[in-house]
Amino acid sequence: MSEIYNPNPEFAKDAAIPSMDAYWALQNKAIEDYDGFWKGFADEKIEWLAPYDKVLDESDAPFYKWFTNGKLNVSNQCIDRHLDTKADQNAIIFEGDKGDVEHITYGQLSTRVNKMANLLKNEFGVKKGDRVVLYMPMIPEAAYAMLACTRLGAIHSIVFGGFSSEALKDRIEDAEAKIVITADGAFRKGKPYMLKNVVDDALAQGGKSIEAVLVVKRNNEEITWVEGRDHSYNEMIDAQSDVCPFEPMDSEDPLFLLYTSGSTGKPKGVQHSTAGYILWAQMTMEWVFDLRKDDVFWCTADIGWITGHTYIIYGPLAAGTTTVMFEGVPTYPDAGRAWKMVQDHNITQFYTAPTAIRLLHKTGEDEPKKYDLSKLRVLGTVGEPIDPPAWKWYYEVVGNSKCAIVDTYWQTETGGHMISPLPGATPIKPACATFALPGIIAEIIEEDGTPTPVGEKGFMCITRPWPSMIRNIWGDPERFKKAYFGDCKKDEKPVYFTGDGAMIDEDGYITITGRTDDVINVSGHRIGTAEIEAAIKNVDSIAVSAVVGKPHEIKGEGIFAYIVLKVEGSHSTDEMKSEINAVLKKEIGAIALCDAISIVPDVPKTRSGKIMRRILRSIVKGEEITQDTSTLEDPSIVGIIEKIVKEA
Ligand code: PRX
Repeated sequence: MSEIYNPNPEFAKDAAIPSMDAYWALQNKAIEDYDGFWKGFADEKIEWLAPYDKVLDESDAPFYKWFTNGKLNVSNQCIDRHLDTKADQNAIIFEGDKGDVEHITYGQLSTRVNKMANLLKNEFGVKKGDRVVLYMPMIPEAAYAMLACTRLGAIHSIVFGGFSSEALKDRIEDAEAKIVITADGAFRKGKPYMLKNVVDDALAQGGKSIEAVLVVKRNNEEITWVEGRDHSYNEMIDAQSDVCPFEPMDSEDPLFLLYTSGSTGKPKGVQHSTAGYILWAQMTMEWVFDLRKDDVFWCTADIGWITGHTYIIYGPLAAGTTTVMFEGVPTYPDAGRAWKMVQDHNITQFYTAPTAIRLLHKTGEDEPKKYDLSKLRVLGTVGEPIDPPAWKWYYEVVGNSKCAIVDTYWQTETGGHMISPLPGATPIKPACATFALPGIIAEIIEEDGTPTPVGEKGFMCITRPWPSMIRNIWGDPERFKKAYFGDCKKDEKPVYFTGDGAMIDEDGYITITGRTDDVINVSGHRIGTAEIEAAIKNVDSIAVSAVVGKPHEIKGEGIFAYIVLKVEGSHSTDEMKSEINAVLKKEIGAIALCDAISIVPDVPKTRSGKIMRRILRSIVKGEEITQDTSTLEDPSIVGIIEKIVKEA
């Protein structure tokens, strides 16, 4: 599709950034006076408890520091400072899987977060700098727990509820967490599912730093209880005072950790800072979703991912809007659920992943027409490239050809949006992330830093530090430098490599083309092939595995494993697939299951033993092999594997 969709003029009139001229005015200001640009917004948006002395300190690059020596508190930024004007406004609208709804005003949010902070502080001794792991369903108590941590200056690390006990244990141990907050379980598709037992298993395997487990009741299913270690939130919370003064935090104090996959080794604890993160969360919320008074914003992510952190909790609450939290799935009890929620809660912005859009399109093409979606103004997508047919359906049927679609490109490490249309300004090309946001200096370059020519694929890089960028990998500064900055320098300064490929067209529009490293994007979730292969090593009969992404109609990419058996012919493909998936479920979680496998006699390797994954990726996509295979140890293996995969 090459059409251009101009912003709706009615809407643009009152937009936060109402034209491309306004966009360029901001971006040019950032280019000309970078510190001044950020200072202006930091002074306007953040309630400083003590002023900062420097906007950006680059002296220890790439360990950048923003707003040095400033003092603030994120729970104040998200709650207290709104109370004078918004105590009775909804902060959170919660809808449970079964349709139960709870409205939580800013006043009530304040009471509950203060009580939870007091509970953590007084009963468990949680203090500034302690790590608190959350293994929680999508219920309001998860939000209270996050904000209570920020109130005390404790660092939360949320582990997505789909991760296994093994994965949870690894994350607890890496962060040396003091306490786990969890729930008995929750509801999905009308049925209860369990979480507490996963915490029990994780702590049976390790996680010795954990002193207490705080359990919230949600589904009231029976759970096992470890006396002395396990504590009931519901029994303890009422006795807590609703006044807990917030801790003044330094701009650069860590706010949270969030583990994510890389192309090598174990998941890394991405460490975010306090001031820079909350500033950009709020700014992008206001610009990209064009927030207005009385808006109701719904992001369908889970709080276990960065999208849930920034655009369910921190961005919306810092901006003082109403955010929707949903426990269930958008296709239960039917494919109209999401649209019914949009209607019932008067939702004005809807933000989801392409995988959900494809699913909703496929399972309920005409469903949106059954509901009143007229309040919607902005539709967002995130997490993976969106394909033009899904984009078009989203635009025409869900948005009634009136809403702007913001295809937001960013990552766990970037903290907030990097490249995205602005709904009142950007003429949109479908399925294209368009332009870097004001203040973000993005370039598509070659490995050595030279610009990639127009129309060709290069590396998506951010060439100036930005406030909400990752500060470190928890406990591993060397890996931080190596994973993101490489050797490339621009104006003597390190350049941030996103790990994604991108292309720029003759009009300056940026299209993200997908990962350039060994990371697979399954339904918008990042999974490292190295992690999957390490788990598969636990299957005894397997000599070698090589994992690649395979295009998938709904998920975007699925997981495909090439397997070499220790004894050729000893097992069938079905047997191996179920054995592998049992191991993956145990080691990582249900999100990392293989869609398909192929048993092959060998994998293509160079003479030095390196597996040529690019060839394996091409084979599974059915692409012609264009790579030079003459350097392989055994070039004939390529044809053999191609035949096996084709016939499978
Ligand atoms: O490959 C890019 C893809 O998702 C990766 C980041 O994954 P994660 O850290 O889990 O965060 C997901 C939510 C921000 C990126 O490196 N990605 C994200 N947004 C887009 C995207 N790919 C294409 N278009 C997008 N809009």
